[in-house]
Amino acid sequence: MNKQSSIESLQQEGQSFQPPQEGRGQAYIKSMEEYERAYARAAEDPEGFWADRAKELITWDAPWDKVLQYDYNKPEINWFKGGKLNVAANCLDRHLTDGRRNKAAIIWQGEPEDEVKVYTYQMLHTEVCRFANVLKSMGVKKGDRVAVYMPMIPELAVALLACARIGATHSVVFAGFSAHSLQNRIQDCQAKVLVTADAVIRAGRTIPLKPNADEALKGCPSVEQVAVVRRAGNDVTMVEGRDHWWHELMAGESISDKCAYEVMDSEDPLFILYTSGSTGKPKGVVHTQGGYLTYAAHSTQWVFDVKDDDVYWCTADIGWITGHSYILYGPLALGATSFMFEGVPSYPGPDRFWKLVQKFKVNIFYTAPTVIRALMREGEEWPAKYDLSSLRVLGSVGEPINPEAWLWYHKHIGGGRLPVLDTWWQTETGGIMISALPYATPLKPGSATRGLPGVHAAIVDSEGKDVGPNQGGHLVIKKPWPGMLRGVFGDPERFKKNYFERFKGMYESGDGARTDDDGYFWIMGRLDDVLNVSGHRLGTAEIESALVSHPAVAEAAVVGMPHAVKGETIYAYVSLRTGIDPSDELRKELKGHVRKEIGPIAAPEFIQFADGLPKTRSGKIMRRVLRKIAAGSTSMEDFGDTSTLADPTVISDLIEGKLALV
Ligand code: WTA
Repeated sequence: MNKQSSIESLQQEGQSFQPPQEGRGQAYIKSMEEYERAYARAAEDPEGFWADRAKELITWDAPWDKVLQYDYNKPEINWFKGGKLNVAANCLDRHLTDGRRNKAAIIWQGEPEDEVKVYTYQMLHTEVCRFANVLKSMGVKKGDRVAVYMPMIPELAVALLACARIGATHSVVFAGFSAHSLQNRIQDCQAKVLVTADAVIRAGRTIPLKPNADEALKGCPSVEQVAVVRRAGNDVTMVEGRDHWWHELMAGESISDKCAYEVMDSEDPLFILYTSGSTGKPKGVVHTQGGYLTYAAHSTQWVFDVKDDDVYWCTADIGWITGHSYILYGPLALGATSFMFEGVPSYPGPDRFWKLVQKFKVNIFYTAPTVIRALMREGEEWPAKYDLSSLRVLGSVGEPINPEAWLWYHKHIGGGRLPVLDTWWQTETGGIMISALPYATPLKPGSATRGLPGVHAAIVDSEGKDVGPNQGGHLVIKKPWPGMLRGVFGDPERFKKNYFERFKGMYESGDGARTDDDGYFWIMGRLDDVLNVSGHRLGTAEIESALVSHPAVAEAAVVGMPHAVKGETIYAYVSLRTGIDPSDELRKELKGHVRKEIGPIAAPEFIQFADGLPKTRSGKIMRRVLRKIAAGSTSMEDFGDTSTLADPTVISDLIEGKLALV
């Protein structure tokens, strides 16, 4: 593969970048020696290491009974069990008395340039207490689920912290998902309340959101009440007795600014976040209180080296885990200033991000490779127009960052001097697992470098045995860490099977990787049937079942096709039912169908109609062949062993179809 060969060529050249000297003296981790010391300490005495971090970073209402108790066979994982805390109190209340009361907690930039809101810790505390009381007035109690389907507006942060305050479990559904996806997720977690908005403002357009919520709720009897934020002012239908305007609820005379927080056990659930797996419907990854918050705060502090007067900007959407951990919980637990942006990188022009960096003097900037690649195409003259000298640390997450994009980011955004951190992690890990530390780790473009202290990342073969350097294998994590998922909501079997069954005593990430001679990790991507499109995780099985639910479709197979900006794009092979003719209209209709079933991000870019799919004699679709065809292979030698195919002649038909399409 191209990507791989360019990584190798860079590695062979031995291109590496030393961490900056400037700022090193004030860094949390100042050198590789300090990193190695922390790593060794965490390896020898993980409980002592994490207990120290949990005490240093978190305010506990009562101490824990035991730091760690776990059994991967069950599986069951407990961190700081018996310890009492409240996550919202850690993110807000304690900063009211530690000198940060009037510090900006969230600086929000709306998509329109002139819409800016600043929430000090005090202001955010007040809003959160009020909305916590609103939720209580709606009958939400500790342990109840609250679904959240919102654009990137401050009320989203308020809603999540209000849930945390009263011990309700939030479940955020990214606003780009369809009504049908929202419905599935609400049905799965049986949410009692939904918080949503009239619309999403995106690239200058108003995209109605409330109609999706209405559509979804037709099949969600568990939802009793809905709070609706007025963002765009578009017309919406409000259902009497069920739907309420956020601003009216918040202005309610009986709604007080005071709301005592619920004292939670460290292992009570904090949130559910749905993510795609290789089979079936999305799974509700469950994170809990004490371990998650410790890990979010710890990783934010060490990886981004966030200081009190920094402006820290993570460009993710709170609808994904990156936004949960690195816009909300990590930074606020530290008392940092988190910058939150409603818009997109390309609107009104491809300089929007850099304009905002200059406007707010952003110090730490964390984004995704797909954004870098898209902006790179627009040319370096866009960032060159701005003063980016406030920047100190740059980060990347979501997919492998190819060395070309890394080097562009380093040169044109980082002025050739700033560390670019490639951070590897997952919804399930709760926080960053493999990453450089900005003032310690020498960088190699394309490598996420080393595991953080306390993270025992390793590469194993299909039997679970360690493999040496320069050999690909399964990326696993050998010991528990506080931020790890605690379950798949309502599905303990799936929890076990997905993560702990294949390799005894290890967490299976589903990613492939290798290490080099320096022990640096090079992530190669998913080993299962999960796609990564612009950093969004999508299961091929989900997209296939969406396609097959259309009456014209008999069978579908979905694969990822390499894409210069998105990393991967969706390529679908579709067999139609007898008597149905392929056409461009049908192609369009099928794309629209997937958009409606899952959301725009899941719509295939290419649909190839095929009379037959390459199946083994036992009826299994040989996906590797389909992946190769989509990627442009035309020679039989590229396909490997095809002797088990029931009908090898389908391959040449498929190649022909591919060449006719793209
Ligand atoms: C991929 C996002 C290479 C990986 C935080 C993982 C990466 C999946 C990187 C998780 C990276 C994330 N290098 N691949 N730095 N970061 N991935 O759950 O395949 O949305 O398994 O979490 O994204 O995606 P998720």
